[in-house]
Amino acid sequence: MSGRLENKTALITGAARGIGLEFAKSYVREGARVCIADIDIDRARFEAEKLGECAYAVHIDVRDQHSIDIAVDQVISRFGQIDILVNNAALFSAAPIVEIERSDFQTLFDVNVSGPLFMMQAVAKQMIERNVKGKIINMASQAGRRGEPLVAVYCATKAAVISLTQSAGLNLIKHGINVNAIAPGVVDGEHWDGVDAYFAKLENKEPGQKKKEVGENVPFGRMGTAKDLTGMAIFLASEEANYIVAQCYNVDGGQWMS
Ligand SMILES: NC(=O)c1ccc[n+]([C@@H]2O[C@H](COP(=O)([O-])OP(=O)(O)OC[C@H]3O[C@@H](n4cnc5c(N)ncnc54)[C@H](O)[C@@H]3O)[C@@H](O)[C@H]2O)c1
Repeated sequence: MSGRLENKTALITGAARGIGLEFAKSYVREGARVCIADIDIDRARFEAEKLGECAYAVHIDVRDQHSIDIAVDQVISRFGQIDILVNNAALFSAAPIVEIERSDFQTLFDVNVSGPLFMMQAVAKQMIERNVKGKIINMASQAGRRGEPLVAVYCATKAAVISLTQSAGLNLIKHGINVNAIAPGVVDGEHWDGVDAYFAKLENKEPGQKKKEVGENVPFGRMGTAKDLTGMAIFLASEEANYIVAQCYNVDGGQWMS
């Protein structure tokens, strides 16, 4: 049986670990060639080697236009075109409003907002030039649906990702490029190990306690896993999603309804 992404080339940012890596594995299983693009090139290479000849590691720093341009050129010269872009790389931070530092605000907006915008621009230009009816998927978050008392900056970046998905989706569909987003809830992994440690310190909790609490609060009854998201990531990258434009899908065990 052939896969749903047979002969497609996907570029996934921040794919050296976590959700992006799980997406890379699932895309390879569906027949795609995958570029694992990450600022952590050693880990990207390590993971790409494990995936075999369908995977290719590329260094990228999504804050830097020159780095974006070089990475996109590298992928094009290796595979001829990019059919699927997943804007997955992001940073997280937490602080009460009165302690937010300007430098942290700037860094998060550079990675989480400018990153996806200028990745979309670079890849969409290539798609339009080659008449590729491509797919772009932006990783938003439940955090972009509403604010949180200690996570103001991250929430604001993810709200911006939802807004950019709408504008880019409406602007690029005339070229046959679908732009959509996924809004996960709480997904266990290295990222949440860090969040758990932060709240352990802030709220004087035992390590693991915060994760246990957030998991119990999910209507489904547990935190999500990266694997829980792959069905949506494959669907939105496939031709089955051709008529879906500028949407943001919650894949969060029932936490948010919109
Ligand atoms: N884990 C969750 O609970 C959760 C929930 C909602 C949304 N999300 C979103 O899903 C996506 C993936 O989350 P995750 O938990 O797997 O993250 P993660 O922190 O485990 O991985 C992020 C990856 O991005 C890379 N990266 C960081 N800065 C970069 C840069 N400037 N250029 C290129 N790569 C860079 C890191 O090296 C890392 O490999 C993110 O967009 C995140 O905001 C995660």
